[in-house]
Order: sequence, then structure tokens, then C-alpha cells
Amino acid sequence: MTPLAAGTPIEHAGTANTAARAPQLVFDHVNKAFGRSDGSSALALADVSLSIDDHKFVAVIGPSGCGKTTLLRIANGLIAPDSGTVSVKGRPPVPGPDTGFVFQGFRLIPWATVLGNVEFALETLDLSASERRDRANTYLELVGLTRWATSYPGQLSGGMKQRVALARALAGEPQMLLMDEPFASLDAQTRELMQIELLHIWNRRKPTVLFVTHSVDEALLLADTVVLMSTGRILEVIDVPLARPRQLDAARSDQDFITLRNHLWNRIRDLVLTDPASAFFGRELNQ
Ligand SMILES: Nc1ncnc2c1ncn2[C@@H]1O[C@H](COP(=O)(O)OP(=O)(O)O)[C@@H](O)[C@H]1O
Ligand SMILES: [Mg+2]
Repeated sequence: MTPLAAGTPIEHAGTANTAARAPQLVFDHVNKAFGRSDGSSALALADVSLSIDDHKFVAVIGPSGCGKTTLLRIANGLIAPDSGTVSVKGRPPVPGPDTGFVFQGFRLIPWATVLGNVEFALETLDLSASERRDRANTYLELVGLTRWATSYPGQLSGGMKQRVALARALAGEPQMLLMDEPFASLDAQTRELMQIELLHIWNRRKPTVLFVTHSVDEALLLADTVVLMSTGRILEVIDVPLARPRQLDAARSDQDFITLRNHLWNRIRDLVLTDPASAFFGRELNQ
């Protein structure tokens, strides 16, 4: 997977056959700006072109405010680009059961139980009530929440809410999973376990994944490809050469991993230190 060269024509498939061969997700010269209250506008995405093949696990990394969440929302059809196009299997994206979305906030239904939250996400699928319940219970077990199935979101810790959100997105068994910093609020041990679980799930069903994270290690441990963004632009698209299945401990001591980790760390640090909007702008480190 590479960013498309400027001006690369993209065929938007019109028939079922060509749609089947089309890459899962294509951004073609996408721009998106948001109006600010002072009348100015924030450029969230600037000329973003990216083509993601079926079954790939892609991590998106970059400083806060660089457009990562906007990229996911456009991929899901929640918002439209100002210009440029995005397509999923050759068609404009529409939110629905084919795409699972794990939001940065948890977005759980407060008056429904944990089980109810997961079942609700399955209502548009062609499942009987008992199939829906079985499916929801399977995914609650996967994220370790069986004992809390009858609890309400208000009774759960942040990490547990995050796991409900994950179960809900996975339970629909979508072809594409969009995940916005899904493990950010988990403690280190739970995070590592969830990373392993996510790789198992991905390995079994191979949904196409677009996974936003602030963690360089997480990006390199999980993804086939890491996309580095800054101020609405894609700066680099890096293929991760680690073999699968990945053992997290072994991966961390792999020389390719260490080299890529240093490279990404240095780039992100430089981006943050040279961004006037950053709290660390202009700071000298190592003094
Ligand atoms: N709904 C919105 N209204 C106004 N500005 C927005 C909105 N969503 C995003 N932005 C702005 O767009 C830019 C990119 O935001 P976002 O995609 O959330 O970045 P990230 O997820 O990388 O932190 C930021 O400057 C942000 O303030
Ligand atoms: Mg975000």
C-alpha cells in the first residue's frame, strides 16, 4: 500500500465484479476543513490520498489535532469531504453493519446493560433474538466481560467501558473496523492482553482495520502498515516488515522494530517541537 501519487486516476468501480476487486478503502485527494467560532477554519485533512487493500491492518499515528479522527469519520461516511472522494469497495461509505467503529469516547447507551449495548448493535443484522444474544455473549467473553453482562455502563470503569465498545464493534463481524485510540484508557496489562486478542480476532476473520493510536509501539506491534500524519497531511506510509504471528516480546527486540521505532519517535518529537500549536513548541530537549 502506498499513498497515491498526485494526479493518479482512480477507477471507481460501478459493477459488482469490479467492486469485489476494488481496494477496501480509497481516499483520493480528500480535503476537509472545520469552521472555528472566530470565523477562521481548521484544515483537518489536506489532499489526503491513500489506498488500503482488503484484510490489511493499518495504524494511523501523529500528533493531536493532525486529522486522525476526521480520517476515520470520513471513512465511515459520518462526515463528507469538502473535496476529493472516498470509497469503500468502489462506493461512497455509509455508516452501517459492514463497518465497526470504536469511538474515542465510549458512546455506550447508559440505560442499557452491557449485554444490551452489544445486542443493540446487532439489531440491523438478519439474526434471531437468540442468535443475537449468543453472538453478544461470545464477544463479551472475548473481551472478558461476561461477569458484567447485566451491569450498566455507569457501574463500569473506563477500561471496562472501552471493552464494551470493542465488543460492540466486533460483534457485527464487520468487513472494516475503524478504531479511534481504542486502548488509550486501558492499564498497561489490559492493553497488552487486548492487543493480543485483537490480533487473534483479526487473524481469524481478517477485517480491514484502520487503527488510530498515539503509541508508536502499539502501531508497530499490530499493523502491516503505519501511516504518519501531521497537520492534515500524510507524511509517510511505512510497511512493517515483522513476520506474523507476532510475539509481542520477541517483536520488541527485533532490529527492524527498533529501527522503525526510533525513526517514528524522532519524527513525531520533531513535529511536536516545531508545531506552534503544541504545548512543547520550541522547547529544547536533552538539556
Ligand atoms: N467537529 C469539529 N468542529 C470543529 N473543528 C474540528 C472538528 N473536528 C475536528 N476539528 C479540528 O480539525 C483538526 C483535526 O481534528 P481531529 O481529526 O480530531 O484530530 P486528531 O484526531 O488527530 O486529534 C483539529 O484542528 C480539530 O480542532
Ligand atoms: Mg482524535
